[in-house]
Amino acid sequence: MCNSPECNKKFYITTPIYYPSDKLHIGHTYCTVATDAMARYKRMTGHDVIFLTGTDEHGQKIEDKAKAAGVTPQQFVDNIVEGERGVKDLWKLMNVSNDRFIRTTDDYHVEAIQKIFKKMYENGDIYKGSYKGKYCKPCESFWTESQLVDGKCPDCGRDVEDAEEEAYFFRLSKYADRVQDLLENTDFLEPRSRVNEMVNNFIKPGLEDLCVSRTSFTWGVPVDFDPGHVVYVWVDALFNYTTALGFMNDKYDDYKDYWPADVHFVGKEIVRFHSIIWPAMLMSMDMPLPKKVFGHGWLLLDGGKMSKSKGNVVDPYVLAEKFGVDALRFFLLRTFPFGSDGNFSNEALIGTINVDLANDLGNLLSRTVSMVEKYFGGTLPSVQSEDAEKDSEMVSLIANLRAAYEEQMEKYAFQNALAEIFAVISRANKYIDENTPWALAKDMEANGARLAKVMYNLLEVLRVSAILLTPFMPSTVSEILRQIGACECCSTWEAAGKYGALKADATVVRGDNLFPRIDEAKMLAELEAEREAAMKANAPIEKPEGCAIIGFEDFMKVELRTAQVIACEPVKKAKKLLCLQLDLGYEKRQVVSGIAQFYKPEELIGKKLIMVANLAPAKLCGVESNGMILASGEETVRVVFLDPETPLGERVR
Ligand code: MSP
Repeated sequence: MCNSPECNKKFYITTPIYYPSDKLHIGHTYCTVATDAMARYKRMTGHDVIFLTGTDEHGQKIEDKAKAAGVTPQQFVDNIVEGERGVKDLWKLMNVSNDRFIRTTDDYHVEAIQKIFKKMYENGDIYKGSYKGKYCKPCESFWTESQLVDGKCPDCGRDVEDAEEEAYFFRLSKYADRVQDLLENTDFLEPRSRVNEMVNNFIKPGLEDLCVSRTSFTWGVPVDFDPGHVVYVWVDALFNYTTALGFMNDKYDDYKDYWPADVHFVGKEIVRFHSIIWPAMLMSMDMPLPKKVFGHGWLLLDGGKMSKSKGNVVDPYVLAEKFGVDALRFFLLRTFPFGSDGNFSNEALIGTINVDLANDLGNLLSRTVSMVEKYFGGTLPSVQSEDAEKDSEMVSLIANLRAAYEEQMEKYAFQNALAEIFAVISRANKYIDENTPWALAKDMEANGARLAKVMYNLLEVLRVSAILLTPFMPSTVSEILRQIGACECCSTWEAAGKYGALKADATVVRGDNLFPRIDEAKMLAELEAEREAAMKANAPIEKPEGCAIIGFEDFMKVELRTAQVIACEPVKKAKKLLCLQLDLGYEKRQVVSGIAQFYKPEELIGKKLIMVANLAPAKLCGVESNGMILASGEETVRVVFLDPETPLGERVR
């Protein structure tokens, strides 16, 4: 049991709740994995954690998308949230350990939002007026003319539309001074650089009251005392952090114990909502403010933000499948400083896996375990001898690693925390070369005790590193601990703070190579080919141009009939051609078709298809063809096959 004073402290951490308007991409995954790593770290350090994530399902964008898809908004969001490869599936795949998942369409949340809205109305902070301004539909954001950048949405750069309607307003202006004080004089918002941005760009030019209801669409939480109005999606969304604990509802009973949140992790473009609007509304409700909002950077692709509409999203499913979930999680937090933007690339991903995981960590593990097996039959002798000069640095690095890591983790500096671990791992690989175990092993009688100590120190580096890597690579870590023979009690957070917790006569168990080296050129080519195929598959289908209209009579001149392939062989000296024998039921036909690159003869025999039965005969590469079979596509050709039950010789029209 941990004796730390931190023990049993409550810790409440949240991710933004995601818009289920499209499938999530690696940028969304980044934020959730970071939150998961922090939640796991806090659990490991003895905290009683609630980790909340979820989906933000209302708003005009969803309503429009559902309409375009021909389904109800609820069906639309259900599919993206609960459906195959949807939001919930993705978090399961990524081993995300959220304790709660809120959907803003959940009844308890909807009812709570109505009560919250009413309370702010009754206390005078929400009033009725008329809204005239600009609205960015993709961002669900209202803007004044002066906030636009070159007439476009300042967040996403897209076109905005005029909006004028009767609306309720929240007295944001009333809270401007208090919010400014909160931002400037406390650690509420981090990184610090974001404070200046908020104060200079939004508060100093004058905070206007915020439009908090809409009447031009219906997919939202209805304002119960004024039918026709739905609550602005950001009011609905932000209060999720409290309704998911049971605020103004009976679904949960954790509000009094876990609110205020310890930290909200949010992407930089939504810092404005979380650091200005959110505290102001909480002030209006007389509720405690969250302790911290941390605005992380974006994962960029080719220097720009990933977005479905730009077609430059990276699919986390593809990466997890190719590289493994733990390697992907590790990469995201090791490579990019959490508070700043970072450029995603497959090269960087492969590089991190090869250098840190295959070379440094993987090698240290496999070398150490195989040396313990080779020199000691798998179990270290308990008689070991230290060389004070050679060991002191290693021993103190191990003993101090947890503290250095903890300092960084407490600042949400994942990259630095991992750098601390990998500095020690890399030092340990050098320690092997300095101590030359293979030379010591030549005279076991003289050097056996010394060799055992060298091995022990290496196992200790692996043990402490593995424990500290738990938040990042939860599955891999247990395998490392198993291979080095670490028992449960020396695998705890407590034990990570001590050199010497592994028992001296530890027994190692050789296992699989955890991180095989990736052949970069081969993998990049594979990923590129898959990306191109996916792009093609998702490319918008263009309307064919110059399509001449024909009359019904003309169409009826083409005699399409059902037929079965009874024999098929390649046409000699013609790479692209196959010669098919077709049975029309009333007669047999020979047809030559340019499909040899796409089908093997044996794949076609027995299949039923459609042929043009009244096409004038022709010779192709010297072989007579009496008709044509129907197929689609140009680069990839697909024969139009029929149901096996289709009778032969039937007219198709
Ligand atoms: N629904 C709002 C959040 C409401 S919270 C009360 C929303 N949803 S979102 O799906 O558009 O974005 C969710 C989070 O994903 C945001 O924090 C956003 O910054 C993050 N990311 C989306 N793309 C990203 C990258 N390319 N890189 C890093 N994070 C990114 O905003």
